[in-house]
Amino acid sequence: MNPIIPAIPPGIPGRVSKVWKMKLTSRSVSLVPIASTVAAATIAASLILTTNANAATTLGAAAEQSGRYFGTAVSANKLGDSTYVGILNREFNMVTAENEMKIDATEPNQNQFSYGNADRIVNQARNQGKRVRGHTLAWHSQQPGWMQSMSGTALRNAMLNHITKVATYYRGKIYAWDVVNEAFADGSSGGRRDSNLQRTGNDWIEAAFRAARAADPDAKLCYNDYNTDDWSHAKTQGVYRMVQDFKSRGVPIDCVGFQSHFNPQSPVPSNYQTTLQNFANLGVDVQITELDIEGSGSAQASNYDRVTRACLAVTRCAGITTWGIRDTDSWRSSGTPLLFDGGGNKKAAYTSVLNALNAGGPGPTTTTTTTTTTTTTTTTTTTTNGPGPGGCTASVSLNQWGEGFVATVKVTAGSSALRGWQVATTLSSGTVTNSWSANRSGNSGAITWSNVDYNGSVPAGQSTEFGFQGTGSGANLNPSCTAN
Ligand code: G3I
Repeated sequence: MNPIIPAIPPGIPGRVSKVWKMKLTSRSVSLVPIASTVAAATIAASLILTTNANAATTLGAAAEQSGRYFGTAVSANKLGDSTYVGILNREFNMVTAENEMKIDATEPNQNQFSYGNADRIVNQARNQGKRVRGHTLAWHSQQPGWMQSMSGTALRNAMLNHITKVATYYRGKIYAWDVVNEAFADGSSGGRRDSNLQRTGNDWIEAAFRAARAADPDAKLCYNDYNTDDWSHAKTQGVYRMVQDFKSRGVPIDCVGFQSHFNPQSPVPSNYQTTLQNFANLGVDVQITELDIEGSGSAQASNYDRVTRACLAVTRCAGITTWGIRDTDSWRSSGTPLLFDGGGNKKAAYTSVLNALNAGGPGPTTTTTTTTTTTTTTTTTTTTNGPGPGGCTASVSLNQWGEGFVATVKVTAGSSALRGWQVATTLSSGTVTNSWSANRSGNSGAITWSNVDYNGSVPAGQSTEFGFQGTGSGANLNPSCTAN
């Protein structure tokens, strides 16, 4: 019998991490008497090769070995709980205020700011040498009453004022801001969530990012959302297109946060690492910002192991934050989704995360992504109609995978400004399932796309974009642009 198998920690069936190998090596003297076969001797020899005498013993230190952080959400009203604070100070080197930096907490009355509880968290963290993620500057939820009843220009200005004031107050103290939270819709649309902020105009997100950059220029600026973990989901694709658009137009965005709230109805997707890698390939950091995984025992530990390894395999995955410390601290406490039980004891999930982090260090992670489950290719074709006065050009950037595609079409004005535009495409096979930022004449074959209210006016030489997702092939769309 292989003597290693019973010794593997729960939650990692059949897998031997470097850390565990190290521990076995340190115990090899006691193992030798029961290892009587040649096979066992071979195993002992291989263990010696993987000895890591410097394995870290806390989550933060283990993550730090590969230049990453390991954080948690913190509630100000628990900072008097010695068990809670003991674990916080020992294990984590990044902190997010669970509720205290949200809009209703920091600006309860318009233009009257309240930082008491947020400061308690920020100061406690910084005094302990921890960094802070700022959560969140603009969100449709947890708005104070005065903001909920606003709309239009007044709301846009109130949002910008809030971002400017809060980010200025904390300037230099925040590692990364969740500038905008949860702005995309669930379901198959891939488009924006309807909200009072969205109704101020589609450019509200980029306006928020520009305001945040101006107020706190050295902080990383993140877009943060949930249900964006599965690469094939329309919501994930919608966020991806926005980030791609922001990068191409110079809108200041540095990172994308994946909340990663998982449970049996919303499990860790098989393509999770692919999603992280594809976003990172856009030139942004990715961060796992609110991780919790409902369950218990080895199944939960295995899922935590997978998530941790996915981050470690993506060079630009900067770190992981769990959404709370003990199961009883969780917003989903009945699902026991965290790394410590209600008594503050380490769970099997904790051990699997620590071992995975130790296996990923030391030094910058150079692990190559190998578990891509979808094939993505990008091609660009351009058809010109103009671009003389009144003319425009259209180009398409295509992401094609096995059974579907997302096409992003860039409309560029010629030497005159556009006051409206139409783009003709030909879909050789397949069907459009959803689209954004344009009206469409149909779902298959020859389709004519026209501007919507907010993107018909395009200054000379400038561009706007629309996009659509479909089944089948998006090859050879041959876009042709006509100015109205
Ligand atoms: O503090 C009051 C308490 O005085 C009052 O008696 C009680 C009555 O309901 O409410 C308490 O406030 C609650 C607050 O959490 C603190 O516990 C709010 O009702 C409750 O709505 C609030 O829930 C928070 C939720 O965001 C609100 O949207 C959760 O704690 C917080 O974990 C959760 O965090 C969000 C992230 O910001 C964004 N991503 C999803 C994540 C989970 O929902």
